[in-house]
Amino acid sequence: MNLKTTYLGIELKNPLVPSASPLSRDLDMAKRLEDAGASAIVLNSLFEEEIRAEDNMLNDFFMLQEEGHAEASGYRSLPEDFCCEIDEYLIHIVHMKEALEIPVIASLNANSVGAWVEHALEIEQSGADALELNIYHIPADINETGEQVEQRYLDVLEAVKKNITIPVTMKLGSQFSSVGNMVRRLEAAGADGVALFNRFYQPTINLDTLEVEPALTLSHSPESLLRMRWIAILFGKVRLSLAATGGIHSAEDALRILLAGGDVTHMCSALLKNGPEHLGQVLRDMEAWLEEKEYASVEQMKGSVSQQHSPDPCAYERANYMRVLRSYSA
Ligand SMILES: Cc1cc2nc3c(=O)[nH]c(=O)nc-3n(C[C@H](O)[C@H](O)[C@H](O)COP(=O)(O)O)c2cc1C
Repeated sequence: MNLKTTYLGIELKNPLVPSASPLSRDLDMAKRLEDAGASAIVLNSLFEEEIRAEDNMLNDFFMLQEEGHAEASGYRSLPEDFCCEIDEYLIHIVHMKEALEIPVIASLNANSVGAWVEHALEIEQSGADALELNIYHIPADINETGEQVEQRYLDVLEAVKKNITIPVTMKLGSQFSSVGNMVRRLEAAGADGVALFNRFYQPTINLDTLEVEPALTLSHSPESLLRMRWIAILFGKVRLSLAATGGIHSAEDALRILLAGGDVTHMCSALLKNGPEHLGQVLRDMEAWLEEKEYASVEQMKGSVSQQHSPDPCAYERANYMRVLRSYSA
């Protein structure tokens, strides 16, 4: 069975790519994912805040030294536990590249432009095959308009693209007024792909302490349908690569994404829950389904039930809403 797919211009042996998670922080886990059949891996993210904090600290340190303050009472040395997150991340890329045969996609997590984007070049130089940019932005300033939010994504993308030549993919949330138009604008600005969609973790209020606390819940399969719908709508209308992230737990979830038109299906929660070897089971189940349905390859099935190719294109739009409400019986 030919499971090959092309993602960000890179040929992959199959469409299953573990997304950024603690699993890709660990070399042994990454190796287990590769052994289970993963066709590429997205590394855990390096965060803009980490880079900025480190750059600021180093700038202060060197500035004080240059000014000859080394003997002065205000002299501050680097903290003893100072660890260079950026260097560690770059070394992590190098180790992953040495240990794995599959492509390694680095990940930068950010929400604004700054000098930090220059570190994207170091990521490229460390051997990353591509870069995923996760713009995790909550527009909590209610003066920020939708147009400004969109521009923020475009600005970060353009700043990063200026520094590197490897493919760049954008990991997006779903909360745009017009998801499709946003993707089209990102493509025009040079994005090589999009990963749809970020899961925004909602904080909770602790009823004992009244503190606002972070809460992390793993995903469930039905979440993949939001990804499937938008990939189905986008397929054939944009040329960049389409990846789904969120709620892909089984072969059925992954197959629906491919039928809709996805090039790649990411997995995270399912692998955290069931271990890296779960990926191998999903792959075998996918193969069995393709054989049963007499598909010769993943490429052949890709997009065959996209909006463009569906016998019922309206099913991806408002009509589906009416139908589903009317079909309910108490
Ligand atoms: C524990 C954990 C850590 C994660 N770390 C990152 C990260 O560093 N960068 C990132 O872009 N996404 C990160 N994610 C998000 C996942 O890559 C993925 O997009 C999300 O969990 C949805 O996919 P899923 O339903 O398969 O879990 C993380 C998710 C979890 C659960």
